[in-house]
Amino acid sequence: MKLETARGTVGLEEAGSGLPVLLLHGFPHDRSLWAAQLAAPPAGARLIALDLPGFGESDSADVPSLDHWADWIAATLDALGIERAVIGGLSMGGYLAFAVWRRHAARVQGLVLADTRAGADTLEGQDKRVAMQAQVVKEGPGAIAAAMLPGMVGKTTRAERPRAVEYLDAMMRRASVAAIHDALDALRTRPDSTSTLATISVPTLIICGDEDVLTPVKESEAMHAAIPDAQLAIIPGAGHASCVEHPAAFNALLSGFIQARFP
Ligand code: MLT
Repeated sequence: MKLETARGTVGLEEAGSGLPVLLLHGFPHDRSLWAAQLAAPPAGARLIALDLPGFGESDSADVPSLDHWADWIAATLDALGIERAVIGGLSMGGYLAFAVWRRHAARVQGLVLADTRAGADTLEGQDKRVAMQAQVVKEGPGAIAAAMLPGMVGKTTRAERPRAVEYLDAMMRRASVAAIHDALDALRTRPDSTSTLATISVPTLIICGDEDVLTPVKESEAMHAAIPDAQLAIIPGAGHASCVEHPAAFNALLSGFIQARFP
């Protein structure tokens, strides 16, 4: 469905009722990243998967920065009539969750940080973002999907779950040139969130696939060490898109976290 907010149209889909849990996808995904979670929402939870600015059915944001996107999330919560929510994000969605925490902590009831990292881009990483912007303009989203697919899933998924690989490939190919271009600006200019970690004072679940090569397990371990009282769970046989690759394991972790920390 489409929701009108003070910042424009937001594409979203929801399932379940109770504790609001916003789900923020990675790059260059859309809300369908979370289809398997929406198919089986945890008891007592209302899962709301958003298309981030420019992706899926959402309008692009005025400024391609994660701070601006964090304000866009707050406007989305306003339009939904939700005061506080658990914010869950995968990879880029996790970077955005840190920005929401910094700018709108009063709206954050808990965090789920999946296959993500706290650090900013290196200078080399920033150069790669700029090169990817030129590539998407010249060659289109298919070229970006082809470049990202090998890192997007783990080796077990590549060998054993062709439908998950096709699902992610098709999702990335659907992204528009403008959405990819803007998101690359937001990713490249994001601040280092390492010093944010110690300030997190809400229940936090960190999830990572043990075959994630884009945001490896050591990144999750570092976040776990720095966030007070956080829980870390590793999903065996999953890579970067752990919620798609191993939905049953991911859903069980989400349910367990919600039942234990928000009874
Ligand atoms: C993602 O999945 O969101 C991307 O891998 C994040 C990134 O490129 O840093």
